[in-house]
This record gives sequence, C-alpha cells and structure tokens, in this order.
Amino acid sequence: MGCNIAIDGPAGAGKSTIAKKVAKELSFIYVDTGAMYRAMAYYLLSQGIKGDEQEAIAEKCQGADISIEYKDGEQIVILNGENVNGVIRTEEVGNMASVSSANPKVREHLLKLQRTLAASNDVVMDGRDIGTTILPDAEVKIYLTASPETRAKRRALEYEQKGIACDINQICQDIVARDLRDMNREISPLKQAEDAVLVDSSEMGIDEVVNAILHVYRQKVQA
Ligand code: DC
Repeated sequence: MGCNIAIDGPAGAGKSTIAKKVAKELSFIYVDTGAMYRAMAYYLLSQGIKGDEQEAIAEKCQGADISIEYKDGEQIVILNGENVNGVIRTEEVGNMASVSSANPKVREHLLKLQRTLAASNDVVMDGRDIGTTILPDAEVKIYLTASPETRAKRRALEYEQKGIACDINQICQDIVARDLRDMNREISPLKQAEDAVLVDSSEMGIDEVVNAILHVYRQKVQA
C-alpha cells in the first residue's frame, strides 16, 4: 500500500502545479485525475456527443480506454493508444469534462484506474473527490482553493504564456460556472473532506503553498 496525498479543490486553484512540486520533493508519483476526465471529454467530443446527452455519454464512455504512463517524470494520458496530452488543455474540453464527469458511468470508468495507481505507488493525486471518495484513507488531505478572480488571472496568464488569446472575464465566468457544477452534482461533488486541511492560496506564492503542504505531510506522516 502506497502513501497517499490527496489534493482537491476548484478549477484553477493551482492543484497541478503544486501537486507536481510536492511529488517531486517527496519522490512520489503525481497523478492528475482531471487529465483523465479531460481525456474522456475529448473522446466524447470526438464522437460528436454534446454535454446535455447524458445517455449517450453513459454509453459511449465505455469505448474510451484511458491509461497513464510516465516519461521523464511527466504524466502522459493515453486514450485508445494515443498520447492526448497536447489536446486536452482547452476551455472546450475543460467545460465538457466538468459536464461529463457528473455522469456516474464516467466516474465508475475512471475510479478503478485511480485507486489501482494509489494502491501500488506513493502518490500525490489531485482532483475533486480524491479525499472524499477515491482515497478516503489518504494519509494527507488538502483542500486547495483561491478566489475566482485570482484563479481566472492565473488561467489567463497560462494562456498568454502559450500565446493563446483569451478574455479574462469569460474565463472568470466559466470558472464560477464550473465551480457550481462541480460542487452541486449528485455524485462525488467537490467538497472539502472533514479531515482535509484548507489552504487558500489567493495571497500565497507557489513555494509557500508547497511548503505548507510538506509541513502537513511531515506532521501527519513523519511524526
Ligand atoms: O482539474 P481539471 O480542470 O483538469 O478538471 C477538469 C474537470 O474534470 C473538472 O471540471 C471536474 C472534473 N473532475 C472531476 O470531476 N473529478 C476529478 N477527480 C477531477 C476532475
């Protein structure tokens, strides 16, 4: 059984940046579960399925064989034999992922893969329901959040750095809509686990957040 660190929180809170660094510090594997939901959303979109077609989502999701591999420490998401890392980071795929991830069949499809990875490795796993549903016995649970404005600014900066034009107000609206969907869905909604430590990164730098999480880890695991 591996040592498990669960990091949950809303879109754009910096989970993946932080989780990657924490994993590197501890020589753990980083598992980005959002990327798995994005790969599924990408697959559904490629099948011509729309977000409101829940029956079609439940049926078609069975055709997506998703796995992950690691290359130079980087997580590669494989969808039906192909590396999809380069195509899943768009707003369209993110918004579809937020909708299709509310479907119980989609969640069931990905739950096993996530638990298997955590059972056999030391992992830092980030997502929405890791501390509450996927790994309820994780040694360390963090709920990482920031204000919608801060999160929108960070997302806009990411797009700018990639040379992608974006509208920060639109990003902020999308973030608020995604929070609402992710927090209010029936199955595995985003919420802070009772035993999770809350970290609000609105006024914190990356290293400060990483150190805060490492501090929690040392207190809980190495004490
Ligand atoms: O973290 P992200 O933006 O890459 O996630 C994309 C969507 O996937 C998010 O809006 C909700 C969904 N998701 C989920 O439902 N459960 C997870 N464990 C991870 C992501």
